[in-house]
Amino acid sequence: MILVLLGPPGAGKGTYASRLSQLLNLPHISTGDLVRDEIKAGSGLGMKVKEYSDKGLLVPDEVITEILKRRISNPDCNGGFILDGFPRTVRQAELLEDVAHVTAVINIDVPDEVIVERLSNRLICRNCGAIYNAKYLKPKRDMICDKCGGPLYRRSDDDPEVIRRRLEVYRNETAPLIYYYEERGLLKNFRSKDPRAPPELVVEEILKLIKEPPER
Ligand code: AP5
Repeated sequence: MILVLLGPPGAGKGTYASRLSQLLNLPHISTGDLVRDEIKAGSGLGMKVKEYSDKGLLVPDEVITEILKRRISNPDCNGGFILDGFPRTVRQAELLEDVAHVTAVINIDVPDEVIVERLSNRLICRNCGAIYNAKYLKPKRDMICDKCGGPLYRRSDDDPEVIRRRLEVYRNETAPLIYYYEERGLLKNFRSKDPRAPPELVVEEILKLIKEPPER
């Protein structure tokens, strides 16, 4: 199964993908994490993608697709994978079709005010990447990861001005993918009745959607 989680920044793609990955036994591939890994490694490619990521802009399609292709060529992806943050443009979706057949696309819809509040309070483990929220999904110990004991940090692109830019980029460049996948009979829309419902409940609802036959 190749599952795509589509949605604006802060929709919860990473939060839900990490849980779905355990339940479905499929690797969770976040192109945002791949970009941050490149930056951390200090490679030439890392320097190039940092310029975009810091400003909340999309990394060029061909560059990000090469990064993704490298990751999905690993043997752990042979039985399928969960994509979080890819594709982000219609061009990326077309490039993906050349190498993989998407099974289903979950479009996570969350109101803007919830997004801004979530991202301004997001905390991430520097060691294992686990995602928390200083307001809604607090770690048991202040700024320490429950899972591995690593230190928590705030992402540099979770700054209010950069969040606004990322939302704008989402509307202009990524939202057209909703129609793209709807036309192909792959889209399943998900809007939580309660945006603050615990991720475990949201994931149960997403699993039900995956099992439903396509909408058209
Ligand atoms: P990326 O890392 O993909 O950022 P994003 O899409 O902006 O998404 P986020 O990671 O911010 O949000 P999310 O939906 O995963 O939410 P999360 O689960 O963390 O990309 C970063 C950058 O890399 C891009 O700007 C771009 O430059 C580059 N890039 C990446 N992919 C690219 C591509 N394909 N093409 C080009 N460039 C690319 O949740 C958010 C918060 O909400 C957390 O604090 C969480 O705890 C909380 N939360 C979630 N669910 C709940 C809930 N049910 N109740 C309460 N709190 C919740």
